[in-house]
Amino acid sequence: MAKAGKTIFVCQECGYESPKWMGQCICGAWNTFVEEKVLPVKESDARRRSPEKKAKAMPLKDVRSGEHIRLDTGINELNRVLGGGLVQGSLTLISGEPGIGKSTLIIQAAAKIAKTIGRVLYVSGEESEEQIKLRADRVCKDGVEELFLLAETNMEEVMDAVEQLKPAFLIIDSIQTMYSGELESAPGSVSQVRACANLLMRAGKGLDIPVFIVAHVTKSGDLAGPKIIEHLVDCVLNFTGERNQELRILRSYKNRFGTTSEIGAFEMAEDGLLEVENLSGSFLEGLEDGAEGAMATAVYEGTRPLLLEIQALTAPSNAGFPRRTSLGIDATRLNMILAVLERKAGISLQGQDVYVNIVGGLRPEGTSTDLAAALAIYSAYKGIGSCARTLAIGEIGLTGELRSVRNSDKIIREAVRMGFTRIFLPVKNAVKSADIAKDIELIPVGNLRDAIRKFTE
Ligand code: TYD
Ligand code: MG
Repeated sequence: MAKAGKTIFVCQECGYESPKWMGQCICGAWNTFVEEKVLPVKESDARRRSPEKKAKAMPLKDVRSGEHIRLDTGINELNRVLGGGLVQGSLTLISGEPGIGKSTLIIQAAAKIAKTIGRVLYVSGEESEEQIKLRADRVCKDGVEELFLLAETNMEEVMDAVEQLKPAFLIIDSIQTMYSGELESAPGSVSQVRACANLLMRAGKGLDIPVFIVAHVTKSGDLAGPKIIEHLVDCVLNFTGERNQELRILRSYKNRFGTTSEIGAFEMAEDGLLEVENLSGSFLEGLEDGAEGAMATAVYEGTRPLLLEIQALTAPSNAGFPRRTSLGIDATRLNMILAVLERKAGISLQGQDVYVNIVGGLRPEGTSTDLAAALAIYSAYKGIGSCARTLAIGEIGLTGELRSVRNSDKIIREAVRMGFTRIFLPVKNAVKSADIAKDIELIPVGNLRDAIRKFTE
């Protein structure tokens, strides 16, 4: 261990400590080292291993298992992303660009919890009590009697307030502004964030209450400052959206108590965030009949189907090397789809720039949008208008074959609900869903060439 007072370099990605600055860390990350001072080991820490207390391992069969106790946040979209509510004693990180609505979401949840469950302590290192009150007046209908505010950046003070108040829910807004008086380094540095997060974890587990931590991200989407906190918390949520549009999407990237494929949708309104239940409807608003290069498709996110519009544009390229631009779909995936279109469907896109975009700024996971992307590109290139009541799903393989997608029956039901009349889908999915065919025309396709033939008929 390095001597106190000496300078060391700490990787922001994994926390590895090195005596020298390094370009690449042993964890593989580049340019992640920051300078830190080694602090003296406090006596209390040195004496932590007391001779009387011996650690004892427990046989697995004796460990109590049980359902986690969850708090209802009063916001369905948030509950769903968390996996069914806030788990007692858990640490949740919510990250997002400044101004996206993190504080608004949290104060809304705080007021609801304060109304139905008990005291909530909202600690802000960014805004004064008056500023928080202004926002609360705007977005919280009631429940504010049990909502306590504290504008403070010193963690020891915060811990004192927590001891005194014994809240049912604790919020820290934001971790980058907090500091522990026991360390010399600046707020937001690796050691400060680690120390603050550890204090919060102790408070959360000690009082068995959920703790919410707000963190800012940079423009590129990385956590501003140390990423180390992602390893410490139980759940990492990310709040995204365009600041000039109203739609906001909440996703989880890590969840020890649930899946990470759920998304929550909100709309920023005059009086706070509103839950968006009919998300498919909002993504399909602009879909027009006869539009060239537009196609409806669907993905299955978490526990619900989501319909989207995918758009493509091709234009003769001026430069020697044609452009491939994709927004919302993976660039490698787009290149693969283009190669399959060239080889298996016989269209040459070599002299063409290709742009593909998923409307609404969403980045769906999975491959069920492949077929729609291919058909949208084909439709744009050939100038064939598509029908706004037609949907396409299916994964495209390298041989041009169409592979089945998960939960196609639920996707088809959602398509029926949204008024679609035809759906292109992999043969396997069509066979399985034959019983719902009376409400919508199922068009089974075996491969991409087959799909294009049926699309142009
Ligand atoms: P905020 O929650 O302060 O963002 P963050 O904590 O992520 O930095 O939200 C800031 C933006 O939201 C601000 O530009 C104003 C807007 N807003 C509304 O449109 N309606 C509202 O009711 C509130 C409270 C904020
Ligand atoms: Mg804020």
